[in-house]
Amino acid sequence: MNREGLRKRASSLLNRYPILPQEGTLLLLYLYNTLNVRLASLHDQAYSAYFSYLPPAGLRDRVSGTADAHEFMLVGRKIADDLTNILGRLNRSWPDFEKVLDFGCGCCRVMTHLRQWKNKLYGTDIDKKAITWCGRSIDFASFSVNKPAPPLEFPSEFFDLIYSISVFTHLDERYQFDWLNELRRVTRPHALLLLSIHGNYAARINKLNPCEKQKLKQEGFLYLTHYGPGPFPKFYGSTYHTKEYIYKRWSQYFRILDYVEQGINNHQDLVVLERC
Ligand SMILES: C[S@@+](CC[C@H](N)C(=O)[O-])C[C@H]1O[C@@H](n2cnc3c(N)ncnc32)[C@H](O)[C@@H]1O
Repeated sequence: MNREGLRKRASSLLNRYPILPQEGTLLLLYLYNTLNVRLASLHDQAYSAYFSYLPPAGLRDRVSGTADAHEFMLVGRKIADDLTNILGRLNRSWPDFEKVLDFGCGCCRVMTHLRQWKNKLYGTDIDKKAITWCGRSIDFASFSVNKPAPPLEFPSEFFDLIYSISVFTHLDERYQFDWLNELRRVTRPHALLLLSIHGNYAARINKLNPCEKQKLKQEGFLYLTHYGPGPFPKFYGSTYHTKEYIYKRWSQYFRILDYVEQGINNHQDLVVLERC
């Protein structure tokens, strides 16, 4: 079980059998998290010697739910390779695209592994701390902070490719549609978009309760707001989609070229879209 799973399980057990007031539970989770981040940062100097784009442990924790440096690098590499392979399925490769945006780039877990392709890389995120670190530490891309709701600062029809890992997995339905609309605005005709979501597999391993399962089955979309206090804004939840929902609703914004189950790190599904 990963740490998010563990945290969810611990919270649900403590809610069912409260041994502490809720504030006590949250405090324990907070202390546990802080300790983990501190412990992980002890080895950073050694890792930085051979990976110059290693962000601080606190920022790693915010994007991957673990501050572990080794896992951060491995998963970033794997996701970059997944994206490359998925482009290959379409007979495309990174040099086909001039301007590439990582939407919700965090601290560049993925982008650093794409730098060899020499695209004009851009990263944007709502997380000011992550973007400040990126701006200071990464010399092969441009960065900006965006607001939780559109617009982005880019002109219309600017990008040839946009990828976004684990961002639509956190948005409610209104933000989702607003952002699909905005990503359509900033992409050129025939641009590609690679957007990851929580599909069947993630819903299964994250152990949704019967009520949540039923809602997802009926509506094709499930948004949960179980995130406690932390660095993220209120709207930041946990979102699940069915494949049927994606084909029905996202096709109102883009042409759907492919839907790759567990295409991202054997976990999230990847939706491959073309701007018409
Ligand atoms: C799970 S992290 C993934 C980060 C990065 N894509 C990666 O794979 O390492 C989700 C990221 O989405 C960002 N995010 C959430 N909502 C966003 C929005 N409306 N616009 C831009 N970024 C957003 C968060 O700040 C966070 O950095």
